[in-house]
Amino acid sequence: MDILQAITNRRSIRKFRVKPVAEADVMRIIECGQRAPSACSLQTYSTIWVKDENKRRILWEACGKQSFILEAPVTLVPCADIRKIMQIMKHERYETSFEKGLGYRTKLFAIIDAALAAENMVLAAEALGLGSVFAGGALGNPKVREALNLPKGVLPISLLCIGYPDENPPIRPRLQVDTTLFVDAYRSLQEDQIEEDVNRMNKALLEEGYYVRYGKRSSDFTWINNVERKLAEKKETEETFAEEMKKAGFYPFEPVT
Ligand SMILES: Cc1cc2nc3c(=O)[nH]c(=O)nc-3n(C[C@H](O)[C@H](O)[C@H](O)COP(=O)(O)O)c2cc1C
Repeated sequence: MDILQAITNRRSIRKFRVKPVAEADVMRIIECGQRAPSACSLQTYSTIWVKDENKRRILWEACGKQSFILEAPVTLVPCADIRKIMQIMKHERYETSFEKGLGYRTKLFAIIDAALAAENMVLAAEALGLGSVFAGGALGNPKVREALNLPKGVLPISLLCIGYPDENPPIRPRLQVDTTLFVDAYRSLQEDQIEEDVNRMNKALLEEGYYVRYGKRSSDFTWINNVERKLAEKKETEETFAEEMKKAGFYPFEPVT
């Protein structure tokens, strides 16, 4: 499959056939993840392949009970991981600054590394005729950390559920290129441009019946309604999340020992 075609035609798949995925294909996907660029080649990420049914069930419960998590034959958990490079350094008898709470930049790069590897895996799955979807509820989720025995210094960034598609949804809309690409300098959006963007997002997802199908929302629920819902986080949720990021060692100046 042509790479540009794989990128342009990809869309999240949330319904999977029962058909298992060959282990060799999963290994190929994971190896493709490893081919992603990595900051300073520190390779500060790991992927957990969750095969145990009980654990898959725990992940399903922990990440919003979304049916595709149980249905997908392959569940991967991409993680930002500074623990591994610390172990390597310790083995080589070097000290790291993570113990003193430093290295926040590297922690952020670890999240970037993990995300780049994850997207490579998405595209590799696509090239193998598979479909995939992320579940973001795993980010810094204490139940996920506990189920997978993740130590401090390892942050799950999402689940990546992969399998043979059992649905054929349309390509999803995006903001117009003009809203995303700025030449030479950042510029604020024009009012009419925003209007056009919101309309195009709302229209395409309403036409697909996207939120009815995947979000169990009413038929007039739109993209902008969802944006509003997502960004209306409560202070307690934020505080709990910050606590979890501390436990994972990914909060600024949090020591990882
Ligand atoms: C970090 C991340 C977390 C996501 N979490 C979820 C999720 O929990 N449930 C879900 O149905 N889709 C999830 N998605 C998929 C997005 O909803 C989807 O990519 C977006 O709506 C664009 O649609 P497309 O991938 O079909 O183009 C997630 C995507 C990303 C990148």
